[in-house]
Amino acid sequence: MVAGDLTENGRMLEAEAAADFLSTAQLPVIAVLGNHDLRTLRRVAFRRVLEHRGIEVLDGSATVVQASNGFRVGIAGATGSGGGFWLQEGPDAIRTRTFKRLAIRVSRECAALERALLALESDVRIATTHFAPTTSTLGREPLAKYWMLGNCELGVVLDRCLPDLVIHGHAHLGTLKGQTPGGVPVRNVALPVVKRVHLETLELAPAVPVRRASCEPAVRWS
Ligand SMILES: [Fe+2]
Repeated sequence: MVAGDLTENGRMLEAEAAADFLSTAQLPVIAVLGNHDLRTLRRVAFRRVLEHRGIEVLDGSATVVQASNGFRVGIAGATGSGGGFWLQEGPDAIRTRTFKRLAIRVSRECAALERALLALESDVRIATTHFAPTTSTLGREPLAKYWMLGNCELGVVLDRCLPDLVIHGHAHLGTLKGQTPGGVPVRNVALPVVKRVHLETLELAPAVPVRRASCEPAVRWS
């Protein structure tokens, strides 16, 4: 899974290089786009470059990857947005035009993520965003930047849908582990934080019989 910013400036050459690299993985590759990727002026072509190399791009959508033992990992993804970590009262409560636009984007991206999560039927559900849904993974990021690092509305959606894990990027000075206010585990896998590919082992709650019967502690792909 790639939590966005596959490229620096959304250039097609960068997209092709990223696609070439990621397509060498002997695994399904699923990505959301980040703010740097969205600098592209050719969004459809940008996406197509990735998809032609077998990389699935989630944009308010979901996918299910099935392991050889039949275990299904459902992944819902959306880029998300900035906006800050206060509970907003909706677009009409925001006075300036800039913030109003941002609030509309927050609301659109949150709705997309929720829709994608609700559509998933799988043994485990993972949500992926580029922007952060919680401050708990923002680490040493300055408070003044919080408004551009993520928003609390994403956390509200996640606490309603309760996925097993949330992955995000974007916060370079953040920390790996955090959680939403409702206790959903969150991982900030921005490259400056994890330095390399991050492997996560999901410990599934033994109290849920369906999951206990159908999975191993670590998912192995073949
Ligand atoms: Fe970013």
